[in-house]
Amino acid sequence: MPETITLEVQRYRPEDEAEPVFERFDVPFRADWMVLDALNYIKDNLDGTLSYRWACRMGVCGSCGMMVNGQPLLTCATYLERLLPGPIRVEPLKGFPVIRDLVGDITDFLEKLSRVKPWIVREEEKPLAEGEYLQTPEQLADYEQYSMCINCMLCYAACPIYELEPDFIGPAAIAIAQRYNLDSRDEGVQERLDVLSQHDGIWACTFVGECSVVCPKNVDPAGAIQRYKVAATADWFKSVLTPWANR
Ligand code: FES
Repeated sequence: MPETITLEVQRYRPEDEAEPVFERFDVPFRADWMVLDALNYIKDNLDGTLSYRWACRMGVCGSCGMMVNGQPLLTCATYLERLLPGPIRVEPLKGFPVIRDLVGDITDFLEKLSRVKPWIVREEEKPLAEGEYLQTPEQLADYEQYSMCINCMLCYAACPIYELEPDFIGPAAIAIAQRYNLDSRDEGVQERLDVLSQHDGIWACTFVGECSVVCPKNVDPAGAIQRYKVAATADWFKSVLTPWANR
């Protein structure tokens, strides 16, 4: 095993600099270190001005996603050993404007996420005195896979459609919409469908499937989008065949 490994890290302050540059850092190589550990070593020992996001260090918060050797990865879950012999190139997630160094502006994602109402929608809330909305293990299993999404946005960085059509609402927002649609306590299916059946919703997806390949939680956003297309098509046929029916 080598004693050190080299990281080429993107540095960029858009307000002062015309172009990003790469800066090389040699860090100690340890078999149990992740890419995030190497970035933390740089920040603690070599250059405290390096900017990047992370929080949980255990693949839960979703904030440490970056391009590592051109692949969107969670840096807290990517061993340095897997990237030997280096150098390892670290860049901000593709598709998001850079605020500084490795930090991207995720405003666009947050706005799209809010459009699909990522919460339980009820036409009428029952009184608190009537207790919880109960759910069976089978009903939980219906949406559990989609509830594993950690909003890491690796799927956006991998999606060629998001790159070409920035208005595309994107894989995670659709998977999270499915998470609530399939929840037995939710009544917001039609409201979400009204948003997602637009051109920049599900129909922009051409089923490349890279979103599901890079998802660190096996959420399978591509599968969620295809299921949604089936539901939207059925909804359209229903509206054509029974225009009098209340929607
Ligand atoms: Fe939280 Fe990596 S630091 S997912």
